Amino acid sequence: MSNPSLLILPGDGIGPEVMTQVRRIIDWYGTNRGLSFDVSEDLVGGAAYDAHGTPLHDDTMAKAQDADAVLLGAVGGPKYDELDFSVKPERGLLRLRKEMDLYANLRPAQCFDALADFSSLKTEVVAGLDIVIVRELTSGIYFGEPRGIIEEGNERVGINTQRYTESEIDRVARSAFELAMRRNKKLCSMEKANVMESGVLWREVVTEVGKDYPEVELSHMYADAGAMQLCRWPKQFDVIVTDNLFGDMLSDAAAMLTGSLGMLPSASLGAPMANGRPKALYEPVHGSAPDIAGQGKANPIACILSFAMALRYSFDSGEEADRLEAAIEQVLADGARTADLLGEDGVEPISTSEMGDAVLAALDASL
Ligand code: IPM
Ligand code: MG
Repeated sequence: MSNPSLLILPGDGIGPEVMTQVRRIIDWYGTNRGLSFDVSEDLVGGAAYDAHGTPLHDDTMAKAQDADAVLLGAVGGPKYDELDFSVKPERGLLRLRKEMDLYANLRPAQCFDALADFSSLKTEVVAGLDIVIVRELTSGIYFGEPRGIIEEGNERVGINTQRYTESEIDRVARSAFELAMRRNKKLCSMEKANVMESGVLWREVVTEVGKDYPEVELSHMYADAGAMQLCRWPKQFDVIVTDNLFGDMLSDAAAMLTGSLGMLPSASLGAPMANGRPKALYEPVHGSAPDIAGQGKANPIACILSFAMALRYSFDSGEEADRLEAAIEQVLADGARTADLLGEDGVEPISTSEMGDAVLAALDASL
């Protein structure tokens, strides 16, 4: 049988440098665990725009559709700020999500013990935190029509549309309930049913789906109150399900609970392919961080943890994912800190590649 295929799209900014470390980890699994992948690499975002005048070439889109999993670094940068919306780097990522129909975006926020002091919140609020936000990723205000900037009278009007069909809500709700069943059987759905019709429908459909999962304790919260509760006492949550825009914001907030945006992976999953694997794209929650790009300062952990999620969700290798996560936990416990994780006095930051070295050494020690 041929090896599973993995398409790597490093993208822009710190994307390529964190991905270099992930490639070392991937090689380690080939050498030491008999887990080999057919890895190919291509361009996305600003890098693709510079080469082809589009943030995602059709050939790359086709490769992504065929791959067993896609691993993406980050897209965007100030160089592209003035570009037309249709060719901005972010459009490349949004096209991948939309055309691969990756409707369920799993964003775990887990606080590693070694970093509990590092959050801007009190240690007891975040220590041991382990929650997952399931963000709808292919619809809502990100994609709704009409959209645009139009002339009306003597001024311009900016328009975006929040739109959700019942089936779109149903399928992401099912993903969230399934996940809740594998965890602590607790799900909180967030919307703004007090002001938005799409929120009213969201609540109704999630409640209806909940009847198929009687063991899961379902609650509902307005998304603004949810943001507040996430900061007040995040451990009251286990799985949260929410729409595309609220999920974008709530997941950045949740990321900060863990100490740094440089720690958070994500998995974007769609329907199963013919081989039974879900269509999948894995990417760190952080962006391209143009301010530190190319300086060897970036934290590669979020991207490495994204590969761990690929092992778990695409390649049936949950134990190897556990191994990689444990290696990272070990490295942090040993005090390895990239610049984003500094807080303690007298700790010298290590570079992106030194963090890669440390993770590889911890993997070696796990054998
Ligand atoms: C994210 C990012 C993206 C989003 C951008 C880069 C398009 O913020 O994945 O959270 O808004 O979805
Ligand atoms: Mg975001």
